[in-house]
Amino acid sequence: MTRYQHVLQHLENHQSHWLVTGVAGFIGSNLLEALLKRNQKVTGLDNFSTGYRHNLEQVRELVGENAWLNFTFIEGDIRQLETCRNACKKVDYILHEAALGSVPRSIQDPIHTNESNISGFLNMLVASRDARVKRFIYAASSSTYGDHPALPKVESVIGRPLSPYAVTKYVNELYADVFARCYGMDSIGLRYFNVFGPRQDPNGAYAAVIPQWIAALIRNQALYINGDGETSRDFCFIENVIQANLLAALTENAQAVNQIYNVAISDRTSLNQLYEMMRALLSEEFPRLRDHKPAYADFREGDVRHSQADISKAGKMLGFEPTHRIDEGLRQALGWYIAHLASEKEKIDASA
Ligand SMILES: NC(=O)c1ccc[n+]([C@@H]2O[C@H](COP(=O)([O-])OP(=O)(O)OC[C@H]3O[C@@H](n4cnc5c(N)ncnc54)[C@H](O)[C@@H]3O)[C@@H](O)[C@H]2O)c1
Repeated sequence: MTRYQHVLQHLENHQSHWLVTGVAGFIGSNLLEALLKRNQKVTGLDNFSTGYRHNLEQVRELVGENAWLNFTFIEGDIRQLETCRNACKKVDYILHEAALGSVPRSIQDPIHTNESNISGFLNMLVASRDARVKRFIYAASSSTYGDHPALPKVESVIGRPLSPYAVTKYVNELYADVFARCYGMDSIGLRYFNVFGPRQDPNGAYAAVIPQWIAALIRNQALYINGDGETSRDFCFIENVIQANLLAALTENAQAVNQIYNVAISDRTSLNQLYEMMRALLSEEFPRLRDHKPAYADFREGDVRHSQADISKAGKMLGFEPTHRIDEGLRQALGWYIAHLASEKEKIDASA
């Protein structure tokens, strides 16, 4: 039995109380779904700045009314300490996802990014410390590797941040470390690498590349590749992120706590390869995409050129073993986007 199977079995037999911040967002709503499906009690906190009520409604449909009774939602803002204190009451484990994501957003608006990602994070740490939660698991980021050229990325070797967003995510790690030293708090930071999957927002200027491109292909809109398309990423399907969070929260390995872990697959896929995989998969449903061609735009400010994680630390310390590689994840994600984005007309066109 893998460590993850052991953890899932433990959850089936023991109910704990979890707080998921950013619960109406992409990753938060997937964590909520995974926890409720395993009979856990969950409090969720979100201010709907980038998350949606419809994400919560979808989880409700997926888990059913009985499981939904185990969920309490607080509409509130982590920039308010009292809100954080209220959300942390009687909580065992915290999965802290609330933050303003996106490198370009942070370049456009560093102040708001700082408020949610640093002040809000500090509020959550203080509230968690005072509520004596068992463990605080938080979303760190691969952007912390900044301008360091080494590949694959190893947790201990980072460069200078390339964006305000990267600064905020690195400060999170520094604060969590200091809270361990000063107050004996248990935390684990998970440096996510380009996560994708169902419910990731395809709309708006700050959409991530995978949902943005899927939407463009399904809606028959222009698709832009930034730069020459040889920029590469370690794209990580959401199921692997759920696994990392549950392993981190429930690890019994004392050495594994107060550490930072890469969460990815340890693959490297270029934007050109990603585009081709998506086009080929979607052509099965939309034959017009067989001849589709992308357009190329400028490189994006603040972007790192290549990214690939060394995941051996998470493997060794937490028992992390990714279950979904990019192609399998893409298939699942595409199924969701087709069901939720494709209009009836498109479906009729596709079957013609
Ligand atoms: N998606 C990725 O590829 C990726 C990669 C690295 C790190 N992360 C981190 O993972 C976390 C979740 O990202 P996501 O992709 O699900 O983004 P998301 O935007 O879908 O979710 C973030 C959620 O946090 C909420 N939120 C933001 N500010 C808040 C505030 N002040 N108070 C309360 N709620 C607030 C938003 O409304 C949203 O529902 C973030 O911390 C992000 O920085 C994501």
